[in-house]
Amino acid sequence: MRKSYCIVGTGHRGIGMYAQDLITNYADVADLTGLCDLNPGRLEYTQKLLKMDIPIFTDFDEMLDSVSCDVVIVTTKDATHDDFIIRAMRRGKDVITEKPMTTDADKCRAILKVEQETGRTLKVAFNYRYAPYKTEIKRLLKEGIVGELHSVEFRWFLDTIHGADYFRRWHAQKQNSGGLLIHKASHHFDLINWWLDAEPSEVAAMGSRQYYLPERKPGHGERCSTCDIAESCEFYLDLAADKVLHALYQENEKYDGYHRDGCVFSKRIDIEDTMSVIVRYNRGIQLTYGLTAATSFEGWQVAFNGSKGRLEAFEPEAFITAEDQTKFVERASGRVRRTVDWRNGNLADLKEFDSLEARFYPLFGGVQTFKVPFVKEGHGGGDRRLRDHLFRDDSYDPLGHVAGSRAGAMAMLVGAAANISMANGIFVKIDDLLNPSSTGNSSIST
Ligand SMILES: NC(=O)c1ccc[n+]([C@@H]2O[C@H](COP(=O)([O-])OP(=O)(O)OC[C@H]3O[C@@H](n4cnc5c(N)ncnc54)[C@H](O)[C@@H]3O)[C@@H](O)[C@H]2O)c1
Repeated sequence: MRKSYCIVGTGHRGIGMYAQDLITNYADVADLTGLCDLNPGRLEYTQKLLKMDIPIFTDFDEMLDSVSCDVVIVTTKDATHDDFIIRAMRRGKDVITEKPMTTDADKCRAILKVEQETGRTLKVAFNYRYAPYKTEIKRLLKEGIVGELHSVEFRWFLDTIHGADYFRRWHAQKQNSGGLLIHKASHHFDLINWWLDAEPSEVAAMGSRQYYLPERKPGHGERCSTCDIAESCEFYLDLAADKVLHALYQENEKYDGYHRDGCVFSKRIDIEDTMSVIVRYNRGIQLTYGLTAATSFEGWQVAFNGSKGRLEAFEPEAFITAEDQTKFVERASGRVRRTVDWRNGNLADLKEFDSLEARFYPLFGGVQTFKVPFVKEGHGGGDRRLRDHLFRDDSYDPLGHVAGSRAGAMAMLVGAAANISMANGIFVKIDDLLNPSSTGNSSIST
């Protein structure tokens, strides 16, 4: 069935993941009928880039009053998702929201309540689930390869280009992003919840900022474009050198004051770069999770231990050499990041690869290897597959890829619980965040 879509938030993701594809690859099933953003310059840029006269609005309600719309796509900054999700559903629209569904437990409960009251549908765009390699892990676990699941070890590494970028942008303040345990790790907690087909019940966490600290870069300014020591800083971002960053953000600073080249060592940053979380699941499964945002490589490792053995998976997403780190122009768009297996160590040994492997170690010896072709597309092939499912037909879904509000809640609530745990040094029960009045623990500050 043909559907009409409006997008709120015409930044990097709104344009690159949704707007451009809706008017090209999905034009046979979808109409993009309206674009909304609080920044009028970014709206005009988007309209010109799309080369289509799609109506633009700085007022969300005015957009919904003016154009036909079946589904609202929410791609604003994280802490504002709840507002648009709720307003859209109250006006009879279905919603697709970018992750995280929202940034704290109060907002999460409000979304779930309004979804129930209005009977509308909310889907959360968990693209990572759709990457073929991650899908293969789901398939193996669903077939019961490790038997009864006992524990999971999951580590995620963010490099000094992509990882550092979170410390320059709106993400660097918890009031915008919820911190990396919500903004970034909601992807990871969702993967774990989905892989295990289980829900988290209890969370404890430790976290701190250890690398992106003001004292590490004496004399730094508040943003790269006015910084006295920019040229000697490995983290210098030259907005003017990159056409897209310049047109999308720098040209439009005058409208909202937002600058995308904030200093990664700023005192104003209040998010962690080093985090450890433990989670107990409803089936007694234990998770240990780690996230670090200052490594020379990017990627992840997971292992599942069960009654029949251990399944391991590893994906090296990128590697950055010291020389690459100082190529200021190419680096601005992330072009210097190389997809190589960084475990080989020396630069000369770093190898490109065309497949990824999962290995199963049966309990009493041996190893079985499963190879999955490597997909050189956005998020390991997840973006395109997610769009196909959402915009064409998601009724065939044998592995349960489509994520609704419950999955969105369970992913972000692990991060919300971890934030509370970090602040208070306590274990936090997910049920206390989801149903505070029935558990009697409504005093927990979310
Ligand atoms: N699934 C993924 O892999 C993935 C990747 C990147 C971003 N994202 C998500 O997409 C969303 C957008 O991220 P981005 O990288 O495009 O950020 P961005 O800063 O490039 O764009 C955000 C846009 O939202 C607009 N905006 C902010 N507050 C608004 C408000 N109250 N009303 C209207 N417009 C508002 C900003 O002006 C900006 O144009 C975030 O939620 C992020 O978590 C997801």
